[in-house]
Amino acid sequence: MKNTITIAAGILLAATMSHAALLFSEHDKQVDTLLAQMTLDEKIGQMVQVDSSALKDTTDVQKYFLGSVLSGGTSDPADGNSVQSWLKFVTEFQEQALSTRLKIPLLYGIDAVHGHNNVDGATVFPHNIGLGATRDLDLVRRAERVTAEEVAGTGIRWAFAPCITVPQDAHWGRTYEGFSDDTELVSQFAVAATIGLQRKKISTEPTFVLACAKHFIGDGGTTDGIDQGNTVCNEATLREKYLPPYIAAIKAGVGSIMVSYNSWNGEKMHGQKHLLTDVLKGELGFQGFLVSDWAAIDQINTNDYKNSVERSINAGLDMIMIPNGAGKTNNYIEFIGDLKSLVAEGKVSQARIDDAVTRILRIKFALGIFESTATDSKLTASIGSPEHRAVARECVRKSLVLLKNQKNILPLSKKIRTLAVVGAGADDLGMQCGGWTIDWQGGRGNVTHGGTTLLAAIKQTVSPETKIIFSPDAGDLKNADAVIAVVGEHPYAEMKGDRVELNLSAEDCALIAKAKASGAPVVTILFSGRPLLLNSALADSTSFVAAWLPGTEGLGLTDVLFGDHKFTGKLPRNWPASADKSATPQFQFGYGLKH
Ligand code: GLC
Repeated sequence: MKNTITIAAGILLAATMSHAALLFSEHDKQVDTLLAQMTLDEKIGQMVQVDSSALKDTTDVQKYFLGSVLSGGTSDPADGNSVQSWLKFVTEFQEQALSTRLKIPLLYGIDAVHGHNNVDGATVFPHNIGLGATRDLDLVRRAERVTAEEVAGTGIRWAFAPCITVPQDAHWGRTYEGFSDDTELVSQFAVAATIGLQRKKISTEPTFVLACAKHFIGDGGTTDGIDQGNTVCNEATLREKYLPPYIAAIKAGVGSIMVSYNSWNGEKMHGQKHLLTDVLKGELGFQGFLVSDWAAIDQINTNDYKNSVERSINAGLDMIMIPNGAGKTNNYIEFIGDLKSLVAEGKVSQARIDDAVTRILRIKFALGIFESTATDSKLTASIGSPEHRAVARECVRKSLVLLKNQKNILPLSKKIRTLAVVGAGADDLGMQCGGWTIDWQGGRGNVTHGGTTLLAAIKQTVSPETKIIFSPDAGDLKNADAVIAVVGEHPYAEMKGDRVELNLSAEDCALIAKAKASGAPVVTILFSGRPLLLNSALADSTSFVAAWLPGTEGLGLTDVLFGDHKFTGKLPRNWPASADKSATPQFQFGYGLKH
């Protein structure tokens, strides 16, 4: 199939290749020297990433020469999610790696996808869909820099971010992990986020955190937005819609790329040698390493794990994320045994093993963790700091999109006499943060310390004379001069967020109608991971704000609601008017009222 790459794209590709090649080659001599000393067991060990929950005995890190450990969304330290618990937890695994014969340091990975979101008290940013609404690339770079400092403050040097998906169908539960459905906008944010985490060049400075562009490729294009589903299109379309963010991220120096669960035209991405090796590593010259998703290789051949191992490694995967420990099928000990056998049988070449290990070691040298894995205590102390929260607050402010503002009700006066606040979400940090917060799926209520709910922010913002009525069910609106109604989605992540319809719930519509019946103007705030069909809610609201999933800094909302800052957010994707995908959108990409 002839790919029609324009001249300009060809020049960009050439620039990408040369730049990427330069970026990591400076350590190749050290890598070659170390590689020459390594046994096959030690090499295969580097290619294995095990979830912390699967390592009942941390000494397996030493025993099997493991190259990486991760904490998936629910794999937290046994003694809790405090900063110190995480620091102790990560250090224990690292000590095991450093006690091996060659003392190759461990690379610990975590889903810091909107701040260091697994850690209690960390700064939690708006999810990417809200960052996309800011259109502020430098702000997102700064946000990722803060995230890098907080991640490094717990001894971790690898974030599974940025997610540079281009979600096409908002029924997908991961829509909010995408900056936009516009390829060019996502490409711009891919660069900003990568440089924020890694800075312009990966270096030994301890705040440099390895970025991981994900999920390659076409995760946002599955039929009907079904998570881990099938993306059906020709290669030219795949390249046009989903490849540019990776070209941009590689040019920005991204050191790792996570492969996607989805299939392309019926074949699992984790087995697609043409895309993983010929395109990513060959054509684009990607010099970092490819990591699988969580037990994703198991899906290649569900009846034969060894065949899945063979096909994924030969397709170009360099490191395999394995959540299963002893006692479970497809566990990391089985993986190691299978891969050793495949090499012995000549089904996986020594050259492929050496290429994978070279890529992994290249990054570890570039990060400087051979010199030191020490954690700078100043970074630990910076976690959840006022300075960090101020950056997140600015992200919230700039992420808000004003969809309606009848009679210019907004901004509200800080001297308003009686303000009713309705909807349980007004005082629910978990709903404000969404999924991937402390727990994989997030949760309702006070899920983390140090944050500010919208209600708390209102109390800090309005005058002492203002009477605030908090009435979750809108049962008490007596004499309200205005009502703030908070509605939206409850936390979810990945496939748990897949929906077959996108209506704002009947309960939320009823709550807004009840508020409207009071006769006071209604300012509706929607917490959601995607545009929803608003039905009567928009008509019953005097003003309507799309707030996405803003995170811990609720003061960013009141900064704009009460006029200290203007609305500047713009829709990062069309807002549908109905379930009919071909219908004219309610609001177009780029829409956003100012006041
Ligand atoms: C998940 C996600 C991926 C995440 C990984 C580790 O299933 O697909 O985005 O980084 O597993 O938690």
